[in-house]
Amino acid sequence: MTGLSKIKYLKQYKLSNVFAMMRNNRKKPEVCNDDFKGRLVIITGATSGIGYQVECDYKIADFARLPDVRKVGKELLESDLEIDVLIHNAGLYSTKKIYTEDGNELVFQVNYLGSFILNYMLKDKLKAQGKTRIILVNSEGHRFAVFGIGLYDLKYEKRRHSGLGSYGVAKTGQLLSIIKFAEYFEDSGVTINAVHPGDVKSNMGLNNGRLYRFFKTKIVNRTLKSPERSATALYYHGVSKEVEGISGKFFNLTTEEEPAPPALDRDVAEELWHKTIELVGLE
Ligand SMILES: NC(=O)c1ccc[n+]([C@@H]2O[C@H](COP(=O)([O-])OP(=O)(O)OC[C@H]3O[C@@H](n4cnc5c(N)ncnc54)[C@H](OP(=O)(O)O)[C@@H]3O)[C@@H](O)[C@H]2O)c1
Repeated sequence: MTGLSKIKYLKQYKLSNVFAMMRNNRKKPEVCNDDFKGRLVIITGATSGIGYQVECDYKIADFARLPDVRKVGKELLESDLEIDVLIHNAGLYSTKKIYTEDGNELVFQVNYLGSFILNYMLKDKLKAQGKTRIILVNSEGHRFAVFGIGLYDLKYEKRRHSGLGSYGVAKTGQLLSIIKFAEYFEDSGVTINAVHPGDVKSNMGLNNGRLYRFFKTKIVNRTLKSPERSATALYYHGVSKEVEGISGKFFNLTTEEEPAPPALDRDVAEELWHKTIELVGLE
C-alpha cells in the first residue's frame, strides 16, 4: 500500500464519528412486534449465537468452500419461493492466517465472499420479486481496516495478517458491496443494509487458540450482551415499517450510523466489485 493511500483515509477520519459510535453502543435498540407469519426469511449461520435465535429449516453449506456457497445460491435461484428477508449472518474471527481450499484468506471468504456470491447470484431474481430486505450482519469491527481494504492484496500474500485487521477488511468489503448492490436495487423495492449486532456473547472467536478462548470466556464475555438482543434488532430491520425503503445504510443495532471512511469509498467499491467477480469466478 502506498503512503498516499494511507493518508487519503487518515484525513477523512472524524472524532465525532467515534463518539457517535460510543453513544449508539449504549442506546437501547428499537423493537418491532409486528406479526411476520407466513413470510420467508433466509438466514446464514443459524447454528449458534445470533442466528440460533430463529427456528428454521436448514441447508448445510460450508462457506469456507465456494462450491458449497454456489450450490446453495443455485438452489435458492431455482426455487419458486419468494424471499421476504435475506440475512447474511455467518461469520468468524480468526487470529491466525488460514487459507481455504479455494485459496482465499478464511475470514475474508466466509464473511465477505460468501455473502457477495449469494447476493450476486440472486440479484436479478430478487429485483424481479421486488420486495426483499437484505441484511448483512456486519460489525463495528470494520473500523479495524484503518487504511482500507487493500485492493492490491485481497489474498494476504504481501501484507501482514492480523486477526483484527482481516476481520476489519472482510466487514469493510461487505460495506463496500452494499454501495454497489444498493445502486443496483434502487427503486426496485429491494433494500440492502448492514447492521452491527452489538457486542454479543456467542461462540464468536472460540475457534482460536487456548489463550484467546480463555480471555474471551473468562473476561470479555462478562461485558457482552445476549444474542436475543441482536436477534430482536435483526427482526426490526426485517419487519418494521420504520425502515421500509431505507437502503445502502449502516446501523449500530437499530440506529443509523456513519461507517469509517474506507467503507464509503465509492471508487474502491467499484473496483472491489469487479475484482470479487473475477476472484470467485462469477459471470
Ligand atoms: N459476537 C459479537 O460480538 C459480534 C459483534 C459484531 C458482529 N458480529 C457478527 O455477527 C455474526 C454472527 O456471529 P455470532 O456472534 O452469532 O457468532 P457465532 O456464535 O460464532 O455464530 C457464527 C455463525 O456463523 C457460522 N459460520 C462460521 N463459519 C462458517 C462457515 N465456514 N460456513 C458456514 N457458516 C459458518 C457458524 O456456524 P458453525 O457453528 O457451524 O461454525 C455460526 O452459525 C457474524 O457475522 C459476526 O461477525 C458478532
